[in-house]
Amino acid sequence: ADSRRAKLLEINKEAAKYFYYQLRTERGSVGMEYLRKRELSDETMNHFGLGYANKYSNDLIQYLKSKGYSEDLIRDAGLCNVDEKHGMYDKFWNRVMFPIQDINHRVIGFGGRVMGDGKPKYLNSPETEIFDKSRNLYGLNFARTSRKGNVILCEGYMDVIAMHQAGFTQAVASLGTAFTSGQASLLRRYANEILLSYDSDGAGVNAALRAIGILKEAGMTGRVINLEPYKDPDEFIKALGGEEFQKRLDHAENSFFFELRQLQKNYDLSDPEQKTAFHREIARKLCTFSEEVERENYIEAVAQKYHISFENLRRLVGTYAAQTG
Ligand code: GTP
Ligand code: MN
Ligand code: MN
Ligand code: MN
Ligand code: MN
Repeated sequence: ADSRRAKLLEINKEAAKYFYYQLRTERGSVGMEYLRKRELSDETMNHFGLGYANKYSNDLIQYLKSKGYSEDLIRDAGLCNVDEKHGMYDKFWNRVMFPIQDINHRVIGFGGRVMGDGKPKYLNSPETEIFDKSRNLYGLNFARTSRKGNVILCEGYMDVIAMHQAGFTQAVASLGTAFTSGQASLLRRYANEILLSYDSDGAGVNAALRAIGILKEAGMTGRVINLEPYKDPDEFIKALGGEEFQKRLDHAENSFFFELRQLQKNYDLSDPEQKTAFHREIARKLCTFSEEVERENYIEAVAQKYHISFENLRRLVGTYAAQTG
């Protein structure tokens, strides 16, 4: 079984080397142009091992076969598609390629981006015997030794790369899927505090709310970085630079307050009925703090923030706490 894993790691490495080389040739110049337009330096591209998948059918398959790899292994590594009509063909075609590495810098899969507006925007390797998406994070192989005391969790490959290029080498991304508890326990080995830097659109906010819940279950705390008016960390840094981004990190919002702020959007606080419902909802959430000191501190802060009487709020929390035991 170990030699099987070794074989799959080896073929992924070979593919990564091939993509890497192609990006740096004439044929890959469209990819190079694209990445330069996105303001990545040569050093950054090399550091992340970025590459390019050619616009010629079965290019990678032919190369890997010439290196002695079997069709079965190419297929099991998720590097090709197979269907009855076309047989075996390259999975990645005319895309810039992001090798995905495990914490030991071994390539376990790929993400590939179209260079224009084509669909899908990103194509990712399928899960394989060596690629478990729920137990790996893009960039963690570098972030784990960054010694920043925190980890920045974001959505995308380009976000991670832009942050690292700007010196935020503690940035990681979940792999085109929702953040999982497996990824949370992975992160817990390297940092206690997670700074969430999800996209500022509705999908990003919802993803952040889910991530907060998962972090909480794993016993970690999170704070949320405000990227407004920009859409994601990549665009923020491009527009305002690393120093401004550092300020946003310093002012990242307590994740409980972030949750309340999102919750508040469902209520019209000028209506006493809805305002009361909102306060009940807050009280119910405050119950989730099991440690008394912490709960008191949150009650106090929330009472002040939302102009609720501290005594009333504490009593309400007490009622719910008694109910839920
Ligand atoms: P850029 O446009 O290159 O800056 O990408 P982005 O990271 O800003 O894209 P977006 O916010 O739309 O998506 C965030 C992440 O979700 C991406 O980095 C991918 O990992 C993943 N993703 C986005 N689009 C797709 C898609 O079409 N298919 C799959 N499987 N994943 C996607
Ligand atoms: Mn999208
Ligand atoms: Mn998005
Ligand atoms: Mn982006
Ligand atoms: Mn984005």
